[in-house]
Amino acid sequence: MNSNSSIELMLKENAEFIVQQGKGILAADESPSSIVKRFNSIGVENTTEQRRIYRQLLFTTPDIQQYISGVIMHEETFNQTNDSSVPFPMMLSQIGILPGIKLDRGLESLTINTNETTTLGFDDLEKRCEDFFNRGARFAKWRCVLRINKLKNQPTDVAIAHNAIILARYASVCQAKGLVPIIEPEVIPDGDHDINVCQYVTEKVLAATFKALSDYDIYLEGCLLKPNMVTSGQEAKKRVKSTDIGERKFENKTNYLRNVFCLFIILALATITTLSRTCPPALAGIVFLSGGQSEEDATINLNEMNKTLYRFKRPWPLTFSYGRALQASALKAWSGKRENEFNAQQSCLKRAAANAAAAKGEYDG
Ligand code: 13P
Repeated sequence: MNSNSSIELMLKENAEFIVQQGKGILAADESPSSIVKRFNSIGVENTTEQRRIYRQLLFTTPDIQQYISGVIMHEETFNQTNDSSVPFPMMLSQIGILPGIKLDRGLESLTINTNETTTLGFDDLEKRCEDFFNRGARFAKWRCVLRINKLKNQPTDVAIAHNAIILARYASVCQAKGLVPIIEPEVIPDGDHDINVCQYVTEKVLAATFKALSDYDIYLEGCLLKPNMVTSGQEAKKRVKSTDIGERKFENKTNYLRNVFCLFIILALATITTLSRTCPPALAGIVFLSGGQSEEDATINLNEMNKTLYRFKRPWPLTFSYGRALQASALKAWSGKRENEFNAQQSCLKRAAANAAAAKGEYDG
């Protein structure tokens, strides 16, 4: 076996480990500047030490490894230790959770006079990949953002093409250095567009992304996609809810004179249709972001997509890589107090268990 194929084998095994049945990712990679909003909401000062205490609380939740296969960390957290001076990546590995690292360094304007963005982080990328790998990271994440604005015809072709290429370039460096890349082209839910617009845009973005991944020779079996679910815009007049039902006609093979009508959840079908039109079956798995959905909605939507009673085309494992939808109630229960840590961990465990069940289509509320 040459070194290339042994790297590929490792990438495939680690990607498959992450999306193993009934497990998913805890995205705890908020940057110090983006977690401030969440800490403010519970009246906690945003210091390095408070962030360490909070991440320690999440990572030491008893039995969390039953439901969580990987944790994504910001560089700051990756470099921190628990109360006994064990580095967080090592502590997670010891309980069977793969440590992951956020490699991007945030957003910057793509062109003058628009709010379209590129993502920073190529400085020292190879070196950082090597360094994080040597210190235990086995996967990485890079987020690009696409915004819908119908009046301005956004996202523009330029923004779609540019972000697809940088995701592919990042993935190429990661794979060369042994890290499974998570590709995150997030179509954010801001705006008043309806769900069909979100579906159309998400299809264009994913199609461009997979074209770029092919151009850069990315090994899809050792790669994960982190997409948004297809939803109505957050300011849409009539938003499709998690439980809104539609009807679809399927041909009945055994009796072509009769058609079978199947009830389905609109949001789940729109998301699966989008993915089935754009993502090759070779891809190791799909790990959704929660994108501002409530904890319960994010669980229900994942569950609906995984229910076996639908005849959806979904050749990849579909699971979660949630930030807010795994942390919101835990953060509130904690409120910055040591005496609340047990309750906060129970809240975190409850959401992790619910999403793990949803990843199997077995969540029943
Ligand atoms: P949310 O699940 O809160 O959207 O966060 C996931 C994430 O990692 C965004 O980059």
